[in-house]
Amino acid sequence: MIVQFGDCRIELVQGDITQQEVDAIVNAANSALMGGSGVDGAIHRVGGPSIMAETDSLYPNGCPTGSAVPSTAGNLSAKYVLHAVGPVWHGGTKGESEMLASAYRTCLELAVQNGCKSIAFPALSTGVYGYPMDLAAEQSLSVAREFLIEKKKPSVVRFVLFGDGAYGAFARVLESLTA
Ligand code: APR
Repeated sequence: MIVQFGDCRIELVQGDITQQEVDAIVNAANSALMGGSGVDGAIHRVGGPSIMAETDSLYPNGCPTGSAVPSTAGNLSAKYVLHAVGPVWHGGTKGESEMLASAYRTCLELAVQNGCKSIAFPALSTGVYGYPMDLAAEQSLSVAREFLIEKKKPSVVRFVLFGDGAYGAFARVLESLTA
């Protein structure tokens, strides 16, 4: 599904984040930037050890929840990996939605600052961190839409969803945002 906002667009695809041909790929990292399973495991496995070597050296104190830090992308076809730290879901009363929005916004700002025309996001926080998919879809897509309307870049914001359930949740929300 593709929805145009001026000269920019939001794309929804089903697939693997590591296979995306974009300028920046977003990692679903933890605040210690120590690697993990899911998206994090896949990015370090396909991208190779240079990514962890770089984040260890540039960010010895990690990255706070709700923020993101950039690195180069090793063997991935992207130019950058943006390591974003989404919130752990605690029922929605611990500022989770603000932190999720802030993680997405920081990645979009980093993409623009680094001259990226395209960025691919996974559904941050919806795996190990337990954020409900429907609520995550609403939050992520509204941040992306507002950013594109206000800043008019990057040209392509792609959400790479794992499986029918995630794709369906994002597609329903994107339809409602454009209705
Ligand atoms: N491509 C795209 N999406 C993927 C992939 C992949 N290769 N692998 C998993 N996913 C999906 C999951 O199904 C989920 O919907 O990405 C979403 C995010 O899941 P996680 O990777 O578990 O990320 P998150 O919930 O943010 O948890 C982060 O998990 O791996 C650890 O180190 C990481 O501690 C951190 C935590």
